Amino acid sequence: MNTPIVIAIDGTSASGKSTNAKLVAKALDYAYVDTGAMYRTLAWYCLKKRIDINNPKAVAAACRTWKTRLKRIDNHVRLLVDNYYPEKEIRSVEVSAAVPYIAAVPKVREWMKKLQRECTKFGNLVMEGRDIGTNIFPETEFKFYLDASLDERTRRRTSDGITENLEDRDMRDSRRSSAPLMISIGAIVINNSNMTSEQTSARILEEIHKKMESINQHKQTKD
Ligand code: DC
Repeated sequence: MNTPIVIAIDGTSASGKSTNAKLVAKALDYAYVDTGAMYRTLAWYCLKKRIDINNPKAVAAACRTWKTRLKRIDNHVRLLVDNYYPEKEIRSVEVSAAVPYIAAVPKVREWMKKLQRECTKFGNLVMEGRDIGTNIFPETEFKFYLDASLDERTRRRTSDGITENLEDRDMRDSRRSSAPLMISIGAIVINNSNMTSEQTSARILEEIHKKMESINQHKQTKD
């Protein structure tokens, strides 16, 4: 059996990762994985269970004991807790504020890494996050890093009806010691401040096809 292909899409908050990762997954018929949703789900769970999010030991203990499983639903790989996917709840202001604390806990990141690598059991993937190219699938040849100006990203969040301090969030994501947000070696960086999502996803797909062709040519010359 061939090893599943993983397309890693990392980048800053509101840089269009989700929209573009979904478009790319649809075009290639790969499964889509939103790793931010996994961290958000743990943050939601901790808030619900009144676990102190500032206590890394308590958060790590919750992560060891909560009852979860991965399920592919409509081409998306979801993390269910007690058989439930808290789709709306994880987008609340409270969860958005709590999630960077959860995501900075090394034991949580270890747990997430194992889980996220397991997602290949669903086949080829488009996985978006902050450390997919650097830490989760460093071996993949398909790495992208999306960014846009702070003004444009703030405008996007506001037009989605969400008020968020993106500068603060980016700083927390980039400065944490465990798997910080970084541009992976070999990643194709796309600043899409002046691009539509159709243009961004078309650019990503073009790069993927180019890379696939060169991998195939390399294989043929070796055979
Ligand atoms: O992409 P998002 O806004 O849903 O991510 C929620 C939070 O989780 C954000 O603070 C960054 C963090 N995150 C992370 O540290 N690593 C990932 N692979 C995905 C998200």
